[in-house]
Amino acid sequence: MTEANTQPEVNIGLVGHVDHGKTTLVQALSGSWTDQHSEEMKRGISIRLGYADATFRRCPGVDAPECYTVDEECEDGSESEPIRTVSFVDAPGHETLMATMLSGASIMDGAVLVVSATEDVPQAQTEEHLMALDLIGIENIVIAQNKVDLVDRDRAVDNYRQIQEFVEGTVAEDAPIVPVSAQQEVNMDLLIDAIETEIPTPDRDPGESARMYAARSFDINRPGANAAELKGGVVGGSLVSGELSVGDGLEIRPGREVEEEGQTEWRPLETTVRSLQAGSNDVESARPGGLLGVGTGLDPSLTKGDALAGQVAGEPGTLPPTRNEFEMQVDLLDRVVGKEDDESGESDIEEINTGEPLMLTVGTATTVGAVTSARDGECEVSLKRPVCAEEGAQIAINRRVGARWRLIGVGTLS
Ligand code: GTP
Repeated sequence: MTEANTQPEVNIGLVGHVDHGKTTLVQALSGSWTDQHSEEMKRGISIRLGYADATFRRCPGVDAPECYTVDEECEDGSESEPIRTVSFVDAPGHETLMATMLSGASIMDGAVLVVSATEDVPQAQTEEHLMALDLIGIENIVIAQNKVDLVDRDRAVDNYRQIQEFVEGTVAEDAPIVPVSAQQEVNMDLLIDAIETEIPTPDRDPGESARMYAARSFDINRPGANAAELKGGVVGGSLVSGELSVGDGLEIRPGREVEEEGQTEWRPLETTVRSLQAGSNDVESARPGGLLGVGTGLDPSLTKGDALAGQVAGEPGTLPPTRNEFEMQVDLLDRVVGKEDDESGESDIEEINTGEPLMLTVGTATTVGAVTSARDGECEVSLKRPVCAEEGAQIAINRRVGARWRLIGVGTLS
């Protein structure tokens, strides 16, 4: 890897229970703080997906794992060599934000599950997030047993065994468990070693057409900017296939809602790529991996306030259809995971019923749908807000249980 080529090449989710240290870990590995929003600062939780890039480096002449670092200077004063730049997607652990975690999962190539050594395993979202990784098929997982600086040796060993027992029979069964202290930056070399081994950069075909999942969208103009200075709308997200270059045509679906003669419909947006930002660098073209900011020629009022979050962008004419309703094959979990003992609602998962509302996450889109017909292992839903999705797309299915939406299974669009 050359210094000039530090676009992240893989997206790694940081998942786990609230306050177990995801954000602190990302900070230790990347030097940046993903909680950038004032509201998030105030509430102290990650309310939206945060991305942070980290370049893993190696100190020449030093054996693994001690050779791994994120610092440019090695302990002996020599310069470290960059190996790979990765992008961490910091998913929120707060219970009501599972939908955001799931929409992040659609752009994760692997995940680090952060589990605090100070609490019994599993805590509610530890279980729920692992189940989501399992359902969505994210198999490349590393477990960070965090906050080991706060417990004694016996407690750490006991907690380690609890983690082993908990992941038995799940997608994380063979995942390495690395004891760390994110805050004290202890064992970061071991963690990088495990990530390098367990979460490789996926093989990608550069010839495939560009497909990007939008996670955010913005209006970057200052209030009161005059018309001549106005910049087009910006869409932020991840490319999942192909390449995107400045000057390329871009279609975005479902697009925008148009009302005409009392009827509403969604019309795709078409524009061109005017600028590209990968990490914090302006680039001429970009490949999958990391958060990409795409400057477009769109009216910024169309992109402000995450208006296009959940939409799909790509080469005009190549995107999947916009669907107002669809049919899916359904695979339900046996029981509701991540429920606290004192919460109301059933723990067993009943079959899906005609008429019930479901919250569905498709790609980075989250939408509510009403079930119009339900049969054994299949159902049809009519959506409040359409999604752009192809046959075979995976859908996370959530049902209202007690006071909140709960993950109850996975669907496959048929
Ligand atoms: P959400 O984003 O709200 O889900 O939380 P989070 O999992 O990102 O947790 P965060 O990184 O915000 O850490 C929660 C608290 O634990 C903070 O006060 C951190 O300083 C502290 N913390 C995180 N890691 C460690 C650690 O390794 N040791 C100690 N002592 N404290 C830690």
